[in-house]
Amino acid sequence: MIEIEGLVKRFGSHTAVAGLDLRVEPGEIFGFLGPNGAGKTTTVKLITGLLKPTAGRVRVTGFDVAVQTLQAKRAMGLVPDEPFVYPKLTGAEYLRFVGELYGVPLADMRRRIPELLEMFELSSWGGELAESFSHGMRQKLVLAGILLHDPKVLVLDEPMVGLDPKSARLVKDIFLRLAERGTTIFMCTHVLEIAEKLCDRIGIMIEGRMIACGSLEELRAQSRTDGLDLEGVFLSLTGGAEYSTLLRFL
Ligand SMILES: Nc1ncnc2c1ncn2[C@@H]1O[C@H](COP(=O)(O)OP(=O)(O)OP(=O)(O)O)[C@@H](O)[C@H]1O
Ligand SMILES: [Mg+2]
Repeated sequence: MIEIEGLVKRFGSHTAVAGLDLRVEPGEIFGFLGPNGAGKTTTVKLITGLLKPTAGRVRVTGFDVAVQTLQAKRAMGLVPDEPFVYPKLTGAEYLRFVGELYGVPLADMRRRIPELLEMFELSSWGGELAESFSHGMRQKLVLAGILLHDPKVLVLDEPMVGLDPKSARLVKDIFLRLAERGTTIFMCTHVLEIAEKLCDRIGIMIEGRMIACGSLEELRAQSRTDGLDLEGVFLSLTGGAEYSTLLRFL
């Protein structure tokens, strides 16, 4: 569903993504972890065609993102790290706009838009301008937009940021349900509990390189951290030894 080969992205002399190879299979939930500045958001932008790679290639549902951009984008839904909603559209108008962009039939939109607003507990906000929405409400609206066109591949950059516990639980259950139906999910997250509970495989990126990739069991084996939870594995793989020395400044 997502095939990444030799992907490189440089910004001037800085290499943000330094040669990434990865395949994400249909129905798989892949969690992309790594310290701030590791290159996760850059990778998301390369997968979704928002940035052009310096080298390498990304295919989504078989379409080369750089060449068959429109077909690839049609198969994808993106939740960016900052939820963007046109401020002068109401919640319902935003969803209608997204639906039209992706060619969702009008009859489907009439049925689905009220359902999706209800699911995210935004029914009473459907007629309000998005500029009056809180961060979490905008995040939920963007997620509702994606469910409206129901793409085969979801690419999500920190989708849980700003969601209250009930909404976060809802979104987790939605992801699991979608994956069961065959949707492929690529998700950047700093929330290790989500990665642990939701993801079939986890990749850890540091300074543009994926230094570990696999199930939690496989990561434990790679980092020789038997019995530790993901936090222990993550700290060990990303330089946990230095961590204790940081507290000396306190
Ligand atoms: N447009 C840009 N121009 C120059 N450098 C950039 C640009 N975008 C990203 N970078 C650099 O690329 C590196 C990776 O950034 P990126 O946003 O991909 O990190 P990230 O893993 O998503 O971090 P975070 O966890 O903080 O979201 C950083 O060093 C960043 O400064
Ligand atoms: Mg980021």
